[in-house]
Amino acid sequence: MYQIINFKVHGEHDGRLIALEEMSADVPFEIKRIYYIYDVRDGLRRGFHAHKKLKQLIICVRGSCKILLDDTKNRDVIELNSPSIGVYIYQPLWREMYDFTNDCVLLVLASEHYNTEDYLFDYKEYVRYLGAADV
Ligand code: TYD
Repeated sequence: MYQIINFKVHGEHDGRLIALEEMSADVPFEIKRIYYIYDVRDGLRRGFHAHKKLKQLIICVRGSCKILLDDTKNRDVIELNSPSIGVYIYQPLWREMYDFTNDCVLLVLASEHYNTEDYLFDYKEYVRYLGAADV
């Protein structure tokens, strides 16, 4: 349901650069939307939803945070603390983000425009959706 992707880092001594292209091994979908989360208040937890169809690549480009991914059987916690790591979520997966550092900038590349119809906002609804949908 998700995959950790390690990006190639260009340049080591005079500054680093990471380049991402859509429809590649790094970003296996067409990018229709980009958003970023920053200035998260201390102690705040965000997310608390899953998506039905949306694919996302989540990258912490500055600072760090944690992401909890729950497929109803396993709960994985990933520490995002490097801009060279992406979490690619390609199937409905419950997520919560927390432990944001003050400088954290969380960048998200998404396969669809913003659409609240695609959201599963309630954990029970998510469990029901997984039971009913052929995902
Ligand atoms: P929200 O989904 O609550 O963020 P998170 O999942 O990190 O808790 O989004 C916060 C606000 O931003 C909400 O009013 C909806 C709006 N929003 C958009 O307008 N477009 C988007 O692409 C996203 C992700 C959110």
